[in-house]
Amino acid sequence: MRLLATLPVLLSIGGMAMAGDCDTGPGQKAFANKCGICHVAETGATPTVGPNLHRIVGRDIGKASGFPYSEALANATGQWTESGLNEFLASPQTVFPGNAMPFEGLKSDAERQKLICYLSSLN
Ligand code: HEC
Repeated sequence: MRLLATLPVLLSIGGMAMAGDCDTGPGQKAFANKCGICHVAETGATPTVGPNLHRIVGRDIGKASGFPYSEALANATGQWTESGLNEFLASPQTVFPGNAMPFEGLKSDAERQKLICYLSSLN
């Protein structure tokens, strides 16, 4: 698949750009538009359709307490990293086949970087 072939390149570009400080404003807007319909990201806020994404970077995958994850995410191991999120948001079903997030993915590398910048700032 073309997407898979280009992914490593996107990941390395993303990794470099995300390493330093970034402007969280655009990412916060993108989050409100693209993710906010299903996700909250404030400390202790009750999850809506999807799990609360507060402090998602570094968090165990599929383990937020009290959220009814699909088996695909509940059985996953490891933690979310910036590059893992980048890959997941590009194509959720490729990374965790059978997961229950009804989102086809964000093709724009820049858009994913903005979001990850914002999500990292919540740590
Ligand atoms: C239409 C609803 C919906 C939208 C839109 C959506 N999500 Fe999700 N998301 C979910 C659901 C439901 C899950 C849990 C999936 C499962 O259990 O398989 C999830 C899971 C996740 C997880 C895994 C969390 C964990 O605790 O492991 C991340 C990260 C995530 N979403 C990020 C995002 C981001 C960032 C966006 C915006 C680009 C987004 N999602 C858009 C519904 C949505």
